[in-house]
Order: sequence, then C-alpha cells, then structure tokens
Amino acid sequence: MKKQKIILVALALISVGIAYALFAVPPVSSEVSLPTSEEAIARGAYLVSAGGCISCHRAEGEETAETFSGGFALETDFGTFYAPNITPDAETGIGNWTARDFLLALKHGRSPGGGFYYPAFPYRAYAGLSDEEVLDIGAYLMSLDAVSYQAPEAETASWLFRWTVAGWNFMADRAQPAAETFNDELVARGAYLANNLGHCSECHTPRNSLGILDTSRAYTGATLGEETVEAIDAEALAEWTINNVDLFLLIGLKPNGEFVGGDMNDVIEHNTSKLTDEDRDALAAYFKRGN
Ligand code: HEC
Ligand code: HEC
Repeated sequence: MKKQKIILVALALISVGIAYALFAVPPVSSEVSLPTSEEAIARGAYLVSAGGCISCHRAEGEETAETFSGGFALETDFGTFYAPNITPDAETGIGNWTARDFLLALKHGRSPGGGFYYPAFPYRAYAGLSDEEVLDIGAYLMSLDAVSYQAPEAETASWLFRWTVAGWNFMADRAQPAAETFNDELVARGAYLANNLGHCSECHTPRNSLGILDTSRAYTGATLGEETVEAIDAEALAEWTINNVDLFLLIGLKPNGEFVGGDMNDVIEHNTSKLTDEDRDALAAYFKRGN
C-alpha cells in the first residue's frame, strides 16, 4: 500500500515536472527595452526583409505586398493559419508590445500572455536570431504606420488546440540536432541566413508526419500544399555555379534560362533580391559548400 502511494506521488511529481517544463514561459528578461534610434530601425528594416516577414504578414489578395496588416492565409496539412496584423495598432496589432513580447514570440513561439503560437509562424527558425536583432525588428515594426485590421483565427483540425503545440515544441527540440558550425565566415553567415533568418528550410526540407522538419534530410525537397519544392542541397545544385545561385536569388533566373515560379517568386521578390550582395554570396557559398 505504502509503496503504491509513493509510486503515485512520484508519478504525480513527474507529470507536474513535465507539464512545468513544457508550459513554463521561457525566462526572457523584462529589463530590456526596444531601441528607438534611426540605426536600430534601419537594421530592423533589413532583418525584416531578409526574414521574409511580408511574404506572410501581408493582406490577403494584395497584389503587391505593402503593409504588415496580416490576413494572408497559409494552407497546410494541419489547417489554415492567418498571419496576424504586426503593425503597431493597439487594438488589432502589436501596438502595446514590449521588448519582452518580441523576444518571447520570435525566439520561443509564445504570445505575450504565455500562449502558444502555431508553428506556421516559423519561430523555430527565428530562434537563431540574437536578442539584439529581435529588438531591432521590434523597433522597425513599431515605426510603421498602424493599420486597423483583425486577422481571422486559425481554422485547424478539431484536435489541434494551441496547448498541444507544447508537446510539438518538445518533440521538435528532440528531433533537431545541434546546428552545424562552420569555420568559413561566409559559409557560416549563409547557414544563418538559410536556416534562421531566411528560413529556406521551412519549405525545402521534408517534414515527418507531425510536421517537424527532418533535418537529417535538409534541403532534399518537400511538398507545399500542391506545389513541389525542389531539392537545393549540394547534390541538387551540383551543376549550378556560385554565380548561378547569386543570379537566381537576385532575379529568379535558373541556369537553364527559365524563371522560377510559385512561392519562390515571392521569396525572391520580397526577400533574397533585397539582400546585400555579400549576403547573397553567403547564401550561395553555403549551398555550394559541398561541391
Ligand atoms: C511562413 C509565414 C510567416 C512568416 C515568414 C513570418 N510569420 Fe509571423 N506569424 C505567422 C503566423 C501564421 C502567425 C500566427 C500564428 C498563430 O496563429 O498562432 C504569426 C505570428 C507572428 C507574431 C505574433 C503577433 C500577434 O499578434 O500575436 C509576430 C510578432 C510575428 N509573427 C512577427 C513576424 C516577423 C517579425 C517575421 C519576420 C522575421 C515573421 N513574423 C515571419 C506567419 C509567418
Ligand atoms: C515559401 C516557401 C519557400 C521558401 C521560404 C524558399 N523557397 Fe525556394 N522554392 C520554393 C518553391 C515552391 C520552389 C519551386 C518553384 C518552381 O519551380 O516553380 C523553389 C525553388 C527554389 C530553387 C530552384 C531549384 C531548382 O532546381 O529549380 C532554389 C535554388 C531555391 N528555391 C532556393 C531557396 C533559398 C536559397 C531559399 C531561402 C533564402 C528559399 N529557396 C526559400 C519555395 C520556397
């Protein structure tokens, strides 16, 4: 009897421990504040374009993505997710956000109240940003014109509650090997742009049945709804020169003379074409490193 009781207590404690580890709000300092200098805003603007935020946070149906007012629908196997308004409107956007809120959201996928964002928001990629970069992004977003628009709530499978993302995060952490490190500075910068800021892997790396990226098959191609996303690992790009990759990321022209289509067009228009030449070189160096 006594033994059973001890086991029960132990089990209860373990469950509480696991729940705590899963649901605890990550320790993010509330001492930090958002910078307001012109330099910080300019750095933030660059990070936001390199991060491709506008590809998702634009208005639905907008031909040329201009504002970050949200509403764009992301169709996935797990439901339809709407990127919210990230302009500084106090009611419908992020007007009341603090530095801590940006760090929690971009690096941990948690809302200001501690709730969970769905991983349609690529926060696992952005987790590799430095705190300073995240705060510069916040500074830039806060400098935008506020737009009043409430994005719809996500439409998900009936079993998919926000809190289940706690378990997903836990499994994704276990599934993800430690990031590879590179001695070559250009390649290291390219790896950061590809895997973190530019989140190329979110589309080009296959996922397991839970939607967790299978990084052991990084960049070997995937599917995105109906669309096929080509492999872009060293093997797939063996025939491409560094210049081919550079030119592709600038204007979308492939070495065979064709222009890319689909979602990649968007990535090039809003993201890679706006990078500095050096950063495009870094991406090319990273993807071509094995050749
Ligand atoms: C692939 C699409 C996608 C990209 C790229 C993306 N986001 Fe998001 N983002 C989302 C979705 C979807 C949500 C809402 C997730 C949810 O409903 O749980 C979101 C949520 C957010 C939120 C929380 C807003 C709120 O009101 O709670 C912030 C802030 C944010 N994103 C900022 C950014 C920034 C900054 C970038 C670029 C560095 C970025 N996002 C890139 C899809 C995206
Ligand atoms: C939103 C999803 C998405 C993201 C993010 C994305 N891609 Fe793509 N990419 C695609 C799709 C879809 C295609 C295929 C388009 C087509 O052929 O019509 C593609 C094609 C490509 C191709 C051409 C491959 C070939 O053999 O023709 C290259 C190279 C490429 N992407 C590189 C990148 C790099 C580098 C990044 C990160 C900076 C990136 N992609 C981010 C969706 C994405």
